[in-house]
Amino acid sequence: MQKSSYTVTAALPYANGPLHLGHIAGVYLPADIFVRFLRLMEQDVLFICGSDEHGAAITLRAKKEGISPQEIVDKYHHLIEKTFADFGIGFDVYHRTSDPLHHKTSSDFFKVLHEKGVFTQEVSNQFYDQDFEQFLADRYITGTCPKCQFEGAYGDQCERCGTDLSPSDLINPLSTLSGKTPQLKETSHWFLPMNEHETWLTEWIQKGILEGVPQHDVSAWKNQVIGQCMSWINAGLKPRAMTRDLDWGVPVPLPNAEGKVLYVWLDAPIGYISATKAWAEKNGKDWKSYWGKTEASERKLVHFIGKDNIVFHAIIFPILLKAHGNFILPDNVPAYEFLNLEGDKFSTSRNWAVWLHEYLAEYPSKVDELKYVLTSIAPENKDAEFTWADYQVRINSELADILGNFVNRTVVLTHKYYEGQVPPCGPLMPVEEALQKKLREIELRIIALLTDYKIREAQQEMMGIARLGNKYLADEEPWKKIKTDPSRVPTILYTSIHITRELARMAQAFLPNTAAKIYHMLNLPNDSWSQPVESLPVGHVLNPAVILFEKITDEVVAYEKAKLIPPSPQSPYPMMKDLIPFDDFVKMDIRLGTVKQAQKMENADKLLLLTVDTGIDERTIVSGIAQHYTPEEMVNKTVVVLMNLAPRKIRGVESNGMLLMAEDHEGKLSALVSDKGFEAGPTIG
Ligand code: MF3
Ligand code: ZN
Repeated sequence: MQKSSYTVTAALPYANGPLHLGHIAGVYLPADIFVRFLRLMEQDVLFICGSDEHGAAITLRAKKEGISPQEIVDKYHHLIEKTFADFGIGFDVYHRTSDPLHHKTSSDFFKVLHEKGVFTQEVSNQFYDQDFEQFLADRYITGTCPKCQFEGAYGDQCERCGTDLSPSDLINPLSTLSGKTPQLKETSHWFLPMNEHETWLTEWIQKGILEGVPQHDVSAWKNQVIGQCMSWINAGLKPRAMTRDLDWGVPVPLPNAEGKVLYVWLDAPIGYISATKAWAEKNGKDWKSYWGKTEASERKLVHFIGKDNIVFHAIIFPILLKAHGNFILPDNVPAYEFLNLEGDKFSTSRNWAVWLHEYLAEYPSKVDELKYVLTSIAPENKDAEFTWADYQVRINSELADILGNFVNRTVVLTHKYYEGQVPPCGPLMPVEEALQKKLREIELRIIALLTDYKIREAQQEMMGIARLGNKYLADEEPWKKIKTDPSRVPTILYTSIHITRELARMAQAFLPNTAAKIYHMLNLPNDSWSQPVESLPVGHVLNPAVILFEKITDEVVAYEKAKLIPPSPQSPYPMMKDLIPFDDFVKMDIRLGTVKQAQKMENADKLLLLTVDTGIDERTIVSGIAQHYTPEEMVNKTVVVLMNLAPRKIRGVESNGMLLMAEDHEGKLSALVSDKGFEAGPTIG
């Protein structure tokens, strides 16, 4: 591998919830393995990530929990940062977008583009909540999905069927703030006319060619990435709003732009640059050399992302970088498909997930086991599935039975026959020569596969080394030859120790803790991948064997499966309304009242005209219950009355207050009764 330098990014996770296995398998673990690989090849790498702390999903979550957006992101930023560290994802820097350094960086970025005339300002119609006097982000609008009829779909996506939506697609859109139908209202935003960039993007995506930036190798890009980009471009790119009406985010740095913030496209990916600046400041480096083409550097920018972020990183962000000038464009955008869980999509809102921090709390010593399983099923070219049964099988019959078993037998036999010392190697037989050749081939394949971002196959090749070793021991049977052909045994064990070392060397990219344990047993320092390992020092003493992997019991599988709550069949009842402060609740005056008189209203087959004794007065209430109760049934019935609802004229009669009734999913009404026979007067609260 030619010497190069790399800036590797992993998509900034939203700080509105913890990380689950789907996030890890589809972005962070592949990125980490790739970076470990580059480091083993002695390439210069900067590995960047951070929390994406803006956006409507975060303000919405804050509203639901009744705390501020900053409190939400503080909570999750620290949890996510710790989870990554505990799982051994080795970022050089884990930054955050609520940091002032990021606000300044993205604000300045916007200003440069604005001054260059990159944006157009346009007026468009957006949904507006009149009660709350604010424009509604897509996430603040729910309604019925036009595709699957799910009633809780969001304005940007239906979480049931996964369809991307825009708020105007929703049937019966409702504001999540007031619960009412939002109105369309004009608002002005800065748009990026993406259509003006189609020509160079096509050339750059299909051929890797763009004047002023190093050419990239198109054949190294995944088909899905090129395919998705070209299908967007071929459909015709449209101008896209780069700002939003929201009070949480990076404010648009222009006069008369109050209440407007930069949209995620001009915010989160700039977070990669802010993170680089933060790291460079701390380490006395020049951040520009990690992003710029100033010194004609060979620096390669690589973005690890999930497939939902392809257009963002391969079209929108490159447009912004190029328009700004003095930036390199991505050398590659390895995008991953999605991971499913036990037959269903991961879902934060439905709690159908395995949370990484919970896994780590429960199994702190089983980091590599999880890495191994997630890499084995990495969703490289199609969606993949995690099940606990599969987790058990892969750990027990692959990690424990093959890798762990081989290393253990080698180290134990060396102690048994040679007091732990590396025996001298005698003349090699054809079997050992063939082995050496196979090892070299495997190593070259692993390097080629990782260069190509194929971590799943690369890990399989690594396991191939353990398989070779196991077969070698099984065929050569040193435990028999120690009696029948003792002169062969030193060579067999020498060779086994050598294979063990090669296994540890290759495992460093995938299973760093395991590699460290094997190196410790071998009592050798870690080897790099950039030159072949030296021969083993004869007489060198190994440490005692330790068990690398314990078997996963059936109980663990049953326990973990039981913890998953199956997605409830969709309830026929409406979703809960937004939380209200206690003060709003105590404003309501609710009491028991007893109906004194009841009669039908003329020309209104749904209404009854009631006279109700409330304990403090007798009042007239018009109630829409005529299809559920006859006047006779209502007389002398004690009912729940909302007393202080402002009087309303219904069919010419002033109604004072309202009867509260239970309504089932078919619309049937039922009066509420006191289980102690209370009558008019008692207050409710
Ligand atoms: N937080 C967003 C997401 O998870 C964006 C991540 S990509 C980045 O989809 F460029 F913004 F970091
Ligand atoms: Zn749907």
